[in-house]
Amino acid sequence: MQDKVDAILKEIADSKATDQQELEEYRLKFISKKSVIGELFNELKAVPNDQKKAWGMKLNELKQSAQVKFRELIDTMDSGESSASVDHVDLTLPPVGGEPGSMHPLSYIRYRIIEIFQKIGFNVVDGPEIEDDWHNFTALNFPENHPAREMQDTFFIERDPDIMLRTHTSNVQIRLMEQQKPPLRSIMLGRVFRNEAISARAHCVFHQVEALYVDKNVSFVNLKHTLYHFAREMFSKDTKVRYRPSFFPFTEPSAEIDISCQICGGSGCQLCKYTGWVEIGGSGMVDPNVLTSCGIDPEEYTGFAFGLGIERITQLKFRVNDLRLYTENDVRFLKQFRTLH
Ligand code: PHE
Repeated sequence: MQDKVDAILKEIADSKATDQQELEEYRLKFISKKSVIGELFNELKAVPNDQKKAWGMKLNELKQSAQVKFRELIDTMDSGESSASVDHVDLTLPPVGGEPGSMHPLSYIRYRIIEIFQKIGFNVVDGPEIEDDWHNFTALNFPENHPAREMQDTFFIERDPDIMLRTHTSNVQIRLMEQQKPPLRSIMLGRVFRNEAISARAHCVFHQVEALYVDKNVSFVNLKHTLYHFAREMFSKDTKVRYRPSFFPFTEPSAEIDISCQICGGSGCQLCKYTGWVEIGGSGMVDPNVLTSCGIDPEEYTGFAFGLGIERITQLKFRVNDLRLYTENDVRFLKQFRTLH
C-alpha cells in the first residue's frame, strides 16, 4: 500500500494541465469518486483493524495533496501561466467561436418606423408604462363604465385611485398635449399591456406606435395621406390602405386601418383569413372632448391620431406566424435576423 501511495504522490507532483481537457483528466484520475485515491479508500476494508486508523489518516492526507494540486493547476491556468505560453498565441488570427448577436426584429421595425416618420416632420415622445386613470382612460373620453376599464382587459396595480399598466400608447398623447401646445406632430412608441391569454395570435405584452398631429385645419385627408405614405415606405409602393368605420372614445370619426395583405398580395391566405386585407391599427380625428381635457381649444385646433401594432407590422414584414416567438428569445428564431442593422 505504501508503494502505491508514494507512486500516486509522485504522479500528483509531476502533473501539469495546460488546457481544460488536461485539467479534467487530472480531476478524473485523482479527485473523482472513481479516482486512484478512491480505489485506495476501498482497499482500506482489507487492512487489519489495528492499522486502519493510521492508513485512514495517510489516505486523507493524500486526498488533500491531490486537492491542493488541483487548485494550483486551476490557478496557473487562470493566470495564463500554463505551458501553452503567450508566445504561441497569434493575435492576428480572427476570434474563434462566440456567435455575434443580432438585432431583434421588433427593434428593427421600431427604428424603421421612427425613420419614416422623422422624415416627414414627426418627433419621438416617450411616456410612462405605469399610468393613472386620468391619462390612460378619463382624459381620453372613456365613460365611467366603459368595458375596457374592467379587470379583464387592464392590469391594475392599485385601486382607488386606480394605477395600471397602460393598455395603449394613447396615454402619451394626453401627457404631450398637457405639456405642449399646438402645433404638435409626434409619434410615441412603446410597450402596452392587456390581460389576455397568451397564444399565437394574442399576448399580454405587445408594442404600439401612436401618432398625433394637432394644428389648425388638420383634416381626415392629412390622416389618410400620412398613413398611405407610411404603408408605402414600410412595405411596398403598391400597398393599398383602406378604412373601416369604427369606434374609439377618443376619436370622432374613428376608423380601423387595413392594408393589403403582404403575404399573399391580396389574393387570400390564412393570415388575412382569405379577405386580402390585414388590420394594422385604429385611427381617427381627435375628439373635441380630449382636446378640451388637455386645455386645447377645439374651435381653434383639430387633430388626427392613430395607433398601430408593431408586432403586426413586423409579422407582415418578416412572415412571423406566432406572436410568442417575439418574447421567447429562442436563438433559432433570433438568428434568422442576423442581416438586419
Ligand atoms: N389606442 C387605440 C388602441 O389601442 C388605437 C388608436 C390610437 C385608435 C389612436 C385611434 C387613435 O386600440
